[in-house]
Amino acid sequence: MAKMFLTVMIFVVFGPMPASGGEYALDVFKQRITPILLSPKPSSCTECHLSGVDLKQYIGDTQEETFAALRAAGLIDMQNPDKSKLLQFIKRTPDRQTPVGEKVRRMEYEAFRAWIRVAVKDPQLAAAKTKSDRLGLQLPLEVIRHARQDRVLRSFVENIWSEMGRCVNCHSPELNRNKIDRNGHTREDVDAISWVVPRDPAATLQKLVDTGNIDLDDPDASVVLTKPVGLEDHGGGPKFPLGGRTDKNFRRFLNDYAAVVNGKYKDAAQLPDQPQDVGVMTGQQLRIVDFPAKLGGKLLRAEIYRRRGNQWSKNPWAIAENPIHQTRRLWQSVVMAVAPRNSARAKKFKPKHLLPAGRYLIKIYIDREGKASKNRDYQLGDREFFGQVEIRGEWKPGYQPPKIIHAPVHD
Ligand code: HEC
Ligand code: HEC
Repeated sequence: MAKMFLTVMIFVVFGPMPASGGEYALDVFKQRITPILLSPKPSSCTECHLSGVDLKQYIGDTQEETFAALRAAGLIDMQNPDKSKLLQFIKRTPDRQTPVGEKVRRMEYEAFRAWIRVAVKDPQLAAAKTKSDRLGLQLPLEVIRHARQDRVLRSFVENIWSEMGRCVNCHSPELNRNKIDRNGHTREDVDAISWVVPRDPAATLQKLVDTGNIDLDDPDASVVLTKPVGLEDHGGGPKFPLGGRTDKNFRRFLNDYAAVVNGKYKDAAQLPDQPQDVGVMTGQQLRIVDFPAKLGGKLLRAEIYRRRGNQWSKNPWAIAENPIHQTRRLWQSVVMAVAPRNSARAKKFKPKHLLPAGRYLIKIYIDREGKASKNRDYQLGDREFFGQVEIRGEWKPGYQPPKIIHAPVHD
């Protein structure tokens, strides 16, 4: 009688005890873990790891194999099964959780918690050493890290979102309402091109993908690039030149993003280098006048150095890039403050960061032979150096007036 009472107690408190624990763990494995492996849907991990990580990678055909792989990866805590790292990974939740994602996550969490709880008590599983190389992460950690949603988003912000000032007047629903009923555009027409989600780079990226404006098979053919760079008719006209900084930035992001999403990177050597500089728009404008007429249409890059003590800064404090006007013999551009990544100055950058009053040296590079438009990776350098001009004093933001200098005299 007492014995029976005890058994009942144990049953009530712990659920069915693993009298033959192995079999019970196996039931849980078959009923709750195997279906995760067989499900055609991606696991919750893929909400943050765009490639390279999936819960399915840890699940094998047998529970021995699965358990050994998870233990070898340090994902199971034998003493405190509920504290297993795998459960912590599954619990990670993106800022913007979808109802479907939430359901999948809860199902995975409960399934693995139930199985890990019984599995750690099974001596046969604890002794399992059949770890196969098939299971676990298949890519180096650098690649896994590079493919994380937060990293990808940071790159989108640096390379594309930072240029949105050129696009929002026509593509943000907050700013393009005045285009409705003008030039024959209906509200539907204007809504259809409102791919900017104000103040939300993550949602904007998603919208560009969903509307087919990013081409994951041929990134350079993405409409978000071909229209503004002038390779295709664009209602807004050409917005930046082939081979210029903005074109390079757009292509850097689009090609990297497609490679990440398509799981193209297999080792760290394939990962792209990060650009050395980070930049932010200043709102200050620079105009250079009196160019020889033959330079009309050529790409010009200005590098702006600041006087510190008795010498010019080693790195440029700002850059500006645009083609010279086709016919008016002048060039104008908004100025972008730049600084080496992780430098003290870069950390202080905020939108509408202004260059302080002072003394600056403007070095002018002109792509006279159109090299950058032929090879879009070409970087203007010493061979394109055209001349330099020194300025000093205050530099007010805005167009009225911009900072105006004369082109250096040149043969
Ligand atoms: C909410 C976003 C998010 C989800 C969901 C997520 N992870 Fe991660 N994961 C991260 C972040 C951020 C890091 C890196 C920083 C850290 O380890 O805290 C990371 C790191 C990792 C690492 C370590 C790699 C390294 O850099 O050392 C592994 C392995 C991993 N996650 C696996 C998983 C698995 C398996 C899942 C699904 C069960 C998952 N993650 C779900 C955000 C997430
Ligand atoms: C002066 C207004 C204007 C500006 C500024 C502008 N565009 Fe456009 N854009 C249009 C119009 C109008 C269309 C629709 C006609 C067409 O497809 O060319 C369009 C279409 C597009 C489309 C296709 C939208 C779709 O879903 O069909 C993309 C992508 C695009 N532009 C990208 C850009 C980018 C990137 C910038 C900024 C660098 C930009 N545009 C700046 C007017 C503008």
